[in-house]
Amino acid sequence: MRSNYCGDLRKQHIDSKVQLCGWVDRCRDHGGVIFIDLRDCTGSIQITVDPDQGKSLFAIAETLRNETVLQIEGIIQARPADSINPKLNTGEIEVLADSLKILNAVQGNLPFNVSIHDEEPIKEELRLRHRYLDLRRERMNKNLRLRHKTIKAARNFLENENFIEIETPILTKSTPEGARDYLVPSRVCEGKWFALPQSPQLFKQLLMVGGIERYYQFARCFRDEDLRSDRQPEFTQLDIEMSFMSQEEILNINEKLIAAIWKQVKGIDLQTPFPRLSWQESMDRYGTDRPDTRYEMELKDVSEILKDTGFKVFSGAVSAGGSVKSITIKNGNQAISNVRIKPGGDIFSEAEKAGAKGLAFIRVRDNKEIDTIGAIKDNLNDAQKEALLEKTKAQPGDLILFGAGKTQTVNKTLDRIRQYIAKELNLIHPNKLAEQWNFLWVVDFPMFEFNSEENRLEALHHPFCAPNNKDLGEHDVWIQNLPKARAQAYDLVLNGLELGGGSLRIHNSELQEKVFEIIGIPLEKAKDQFGFLLQALNMGAPPHGGLAFGLDRIVMLLSGEESIRDTIAFPKTQQASCLMTNAPAQVSDKQLDELHIQSLLNDKE
Ligand code: AMO
Repeated sequence: MRSNYCGDLRKQHIDSKVQLCGWVDRCRDHGGVIFIDLRDCTGSIQITVDPDQGKSLFAIAETLRNETVLQIEGIIQARPADSINPKLNTGEIEVLADSLKILNAVQGNLPFNVSIHDEEPIKEELRLRHRYLDLRRERMNKNLRLRHKTIKAARNFLENENFIEIETPILTKSTPEGARDYLVPSRVCEGKWFALPQSPQLFKQLLMVGGIERYYQFARCFRDEDLRSDRQPEFTQLDIEMSFMSQEEILNINEKLIAAIWKQVKGIDLQTPFPRLSWQESMDRYGTDRPDTRYEMELKDVSEILKDTGFKVFSGAVSAGGSVKSITIKNGNQAISNVRIKPGGDIFSEAEKAGAKGLAFIRVRDNKEIDTIGAIKDNLNDAQKEALLEKTKAQPGDLILFGAGKTQTVNKTLDRIRQYIAKELNLIHPNKLAEQWNFLWVVDFPMFEFNSEENRLEALHHPFCAPNNKDLGEHDVWIQNLPKARAQAYDLVLNGLELGGGSLRIHNSELQEKVFEIIGIPLEKAKDQFGFLLQALNMGAPPHGGLAFGLDRIVMLLSGEESIRDTIAFPKTQQASCLMTNAPAQVSDKQLDELHIQSLLNDKE
């Protein structure tokens, strides 16, 4: 049906006869001559319809509406000098049409303009409801092509490194990754349920026991959790597992994979190895395990200096086992007014959202005197003041903000404020390459964290991560050292976003059983839930490890989008539903009966 793609045509095609297909991007009637911008997946080109070419041809052109599907034939010619469009790749030429055929007309009103010339923001709800139209727009078309390029680059790299792609089941048993499962009832096995995989974690480990040694998969994962701009209920992981490799070897090959993607997709040479930061240091210096290291403003622990002050918010926090930490905002006195950091102010409300009850501050004046509101100043002696300025590296003109209370809340508060202020004060300079792509491995995560609501330890990543042998010690003490051990686990962070994470795995059933026990899964239950894994570990499981990257997040960062919804062809809304198909939807009573399910909702109605 076509000889060329619209966006590929250039001056060297002048005088060629072409046959093109696509959509009417827009039409303009310029006093007797009609110009049609014809768009296909490669771009658009101007079609000129001259009444001299025939009345019937012109009559068709006069009726055309945007998004009509067209096939045209014509001759490429140079545009007159005064109508050259330097913004378009095809802007120096046009097609003089000698035939126009409507392949499909548009009925009714379009919900929004698709045209590449239209940059009006469109409500996301409308875009998602008519996603097929939205995908026709340049932005989404570009994003999906970039996604494809990313997948291709990753495949290329992994296959050259002898990884093989293997699919793992979608109808499976729940894996504890921390979110709620999407469940699928079984018709055949009455009263039993499949879970959709939150990740292929156990299957990829079993592939290693199965002697595969190097596996990868673009794996669809399902998690019923609270959604944000970087989370979807259904998302894609680039999932990888390897046998007989140390942590360092795993990190090395994966940063090479990332560098290969960036090179192939963006033409950018990333510097490897990426920096590594221990989890503890990350929490101390940034208050988070996924720090944005494009700017400084690091957290300082000032508990020691302030533990004895008469200012009870500080001394009380330390004596209750918590801490006082601060961030210093360079020239913050000028940039940030008191109104913003007092109750009701935007920065104060960021602190509140993170769980803080207040936001103490100090302003450092020209003479290095400090100035503040309330009781802090009067309760600091000269030595404390000096030590504070020394520790916070605050200079005249700087503003120091404090978090005081439970260390976890303090970290969360100052992390949130740090990110908020960096955006507000434009501390990120995307034009500097090093600040554009700030990769970082966070390593040495703890095996467990305390869940205070349930009053128990839980696995920080997942319960299959191997502990660091250095922390376990000799055989007779390892069980007692295990709860406090670090895991051989790592996350890849880019500009404050977690791109991926993984670990070396436990390949010894006794250790695996102990980990289950620590997180409250006694042996009997563990055997019931994970018997297949425990058995496999006893049948020659090799040392193995791996990780999974969030593909949607990688594409989001590569494309400069702010939401992973813009990197997925048919995403779900924040309410985990699809506006186009109206899924999830009710099903018939007959279907429910077959599945042995009764709806409580229906009963109540
Ligand atoms: P984890 O749970 O850290 O690890 O997931 C790996 C990566 O997947 C991405 N991700 C998501 N992306 C979009 N929407 C979501 N709801 C979502 N949840 C996670 C993130 C994250 O870093 N089995 C382990 C990996 C391993 O140990 O090998 C796992 O799933 O980018």
